[in-house]
Amino acid sequence: MKSYFGSLPNGNEVYKYKLTNGYMSVEIISYGGIITNINAPNSKGKDTDVVLGFNTLDQYIGEHPYFGAIIGRYGNRIANGKFSLNGIDYQLAINNGKNSLHGGLIGFDKVSWSVKELNNNGDPGIKLTYFSKDMEEGYPGNLQIDVTYILTKENELKFFYEAITDTLTIINLTNHSYFNLGGESSGDILDHFVSINANSYLPVDENLIPTGEIRNVKNTPFDFIEMKKIGLEIEIQNNQLIYGKGYDHCWVLNDYGEGIRKIAEVNNLATGINMEVYSDQPGVQFYTGNFLEGSLKSKELKKYEKRSGFCLETQHFPDSPNQPSFPNVILDPDKKYETQTWYKFSTKKY
Ligand code: BGC
Repeated sequence: MKSYFGSLPNGNEVYKYKLTNGYMSVEIISYGGIITNINAPNSKGKDTDVVLGFNTLDQYIGEHPYFGAIIGRYGNRIANGKFSLNGIDYQLAINNGKNSLHGGLIGFDKVSWSVKELNNNGDPGIKLTYFSKDMEEGYPGNLQIDVTYILTKENELKFFYEAITDTLTIINLTNHSYFNLGGESSGDILDHFVSINANSYLPVDENLIPTGEIRNVKNTPFDFIEMKKIGLEIEIQNNQLIYGKGYDHCWVLNDYGEGIRKIAEVNNLATGINMEVYSDQPGVQFYTGNFLEGSLKSKELKKYEKRSGFCLETQHFPDSPNQPSFPNVILDPDKKYETQTWYKFSTKKY
């Protein structure tokens, strides 16, 4: 279902698309490919909106930390916005301290996507397309990107990312939804239980750039192998948690290279809403909304305070173009970039 959502200052119209499957619904706008709402029933059958977002286009156009958006060309940080490819040095826009973050000043979260509605064997979906010109935000190559969202009968929201380029470039696409399985206006996410299928994570320096070390999570606050409350160890005096003001790190997922596998699970005891995450990516940035500070108003007009949402951004490792030991993020003109991530919703009591 398609409806008019508003117009951008340049006159471009923005539409909202609603995918429903009888159990849950997902709403997406053509600006930034932003997921504005995910309504899923709690254990009593009451619809609960589990993603942070806004009611109006103006708020989405204004300052906010990438709520619900498609992130690219390069999700996460690139140190000093610099990298080199084929002997050529590139300088990206700097928009986060000394670094380039989430694609630069006008990343894929701030552009209009063309949208085609789909029916995938009875499952509703949309395909979003964007053409990013050579040297846009400093990245080489004309890049054609397709992102497909499908809501299945099994209550999975599936994301399929595809891209092709005409020149060697780098790419790392993800989605930046902030979840709160207690409801988007229900306060902090510290009592959610989370598991992440990762035996190690990437320690960072004070600029949140990985040091290159791959550190075992054992006996650290980063161990989420078993379901654990987010809040249990988040305040431990640990220099890593101080740098990110909480969790804001990339976990090195187990079984990379073996296709799509379950990488994380989250549960909220109060609503019983459960979310499993599946992906073929090597990493996930688990970010606990540490930089939210009450200036943004929720859909129910409450304040989004510190840690009122968490993100599980499936992706390649931060700063990979400058870290030869990390899996490669280079896209060759002869190859197609393809990756997928699924979020599956249910209710479950732990
Ligand atoms: C980053 C955070 C950042 C947030 C919003 C996350 O992906 O890891 O450090 O504050 O995005 O920009």
